[in-house]
Amino acid sequence: MKVLVTGGLGFIGSHTVVELQKEGFEVVLVDNLSNSSIEVLEGIIRITNQKPIFEQLDLREKKDVDSLFKKYTDIKGVIHFAASKAVGESVENPLLYYENNINSLVYLLQQMQEKKDSFFIFSSSCTVYGQADIMPITEEFPIQKAMSPYGNTKQIGEEIIIDVAKVSSINAVLLRYFNPIGAHESIEIGELPIGVPQNLVPFITQTAIGLRPELSVYGNDYPTPDGTCIRDYIHVVDLAKAHVKALQRLISKQNPEKVEIFNLGTGKGSSVLEVIQAFEKVSNQKLPYKITNRRAGDVTEAFADTTRANEILGWKAELTLEQGLLSAWQWEQKIRSSQ
Ligand code: NAD
Ligand code: WQD
Repeated sequence: MKVLVTGGLGFIGSHTVVELQKEGFEVVLVDNLSNSSIEVLEGIIRITNQKPIFEQLDLREKKDVDSLFKKYTDIKGVIHFAASKAVGESVENPLLYYENNINSLVYLLQQMQEKKDSFFIFSSSCTVYGQADIMPITEEFPIQKAMSPYGNTKQIGEEIIIDVAKVSSINAVLLRYFNPIGAHESIEIGELPIGVPQNLVPFITQTAIGLRPELSVYGNDYPTPDGTCIRDYIHVVDLAKAHVKALQRLISKQNPEKVEIFNLGTGKGSSVLEVIQAFEKVSNQKLPYKITNRRAGDVTEAFADTTRANEILGWKAELTLEQGLLSAWQWEQKIRSSQ
């Protein structure tokens, strides 16, 4: 089956293309290279020995999206990763985020709703839960008012898909990722943050390699055992495999509801200090860090209840935090040695 993967040269998309190809899917990969590099395509090919169809286009251009579906009339499923994802930037430039994340989604759905039977998988985020009252977070927890335009685009995106599925033959899965980390075990693909990384793990690896003098730990006065924030760090390869499971579930019509929602995490929370300790262990070196003020908008704690994904999707995270950190570190060393 032919599957369109948007944002397929990005961090999570590229790992998912690899898993899709391994399972025999034919991939049409779309990316505008706004947050990725064409070299990622070579990395994918080196891992799988298969070349996905690649179309460089901007999904904000409706006419280009329409032409894409005219060219590949047999696309049955879409896995939609393409989006802008920097929380701070979304506060500075909200319209960039609403334009990219919402328009692209609408144009894709307009095409998919014309088909008899079609599948749509959407990259959502644990950010939709805000600060939940208790842990772990199940899919039944209420959605809280978004703390950023980026978070809002994920909430609105989910609502758009639910509304469209009601009146079309689209079947959809909304995947709420917790904190993706790591790189493929081959170290051919990984995360490529542009500029100063906002996320913890790329900041750690860039500090360890000497690109940044030290890591700032944003606050140690949170009501957690060691005072630092707790998150659920999920290996990107585990995450990628969940997309294949979700697609297979839709194809084999196992979904009783037209739209299903799954949390994707490990179910285990780790504090910032625990991540630093684990990184020091796997990299066998000390990480320079200092405690600073809290970062605005950070929630104290977020980790997933993964029961639904385990039991219904038949998916479980298998790789550990240490494996995620080690692969991220090996990836950082590889990309810096080739520069
Ligand atoms: P990424 O930036 O690495 O990948 C996104 C890709 O989409 C990039 O290659 C970019 O060039 C492409 N793209 C963006 N806008 C496009 C457009 N208009 N047309 C064509 N291509 C476009 O991001 P990622 O970390 O792989 O995230 C993938 C998805 O998962 C995003 O929707 C993101 O919001 C969501 N998500 C990410 C995280 C995370 O922490 N990484 C967590 C939760 C949800
Ligand atoms: C993790 C922890 C920081 C950097 C963000 C988005 C969310 C989702 C995932 C897309 C926090 C601490 C971080 C640093 C630090 N993305 N930290 N020093 O904030 O959980 O989630 O990415 O949907 O929407 O908000 O991830 O990696 O930025 O931070 O102390 O230099 O590390 O305070 O506790 P976050 P993160």
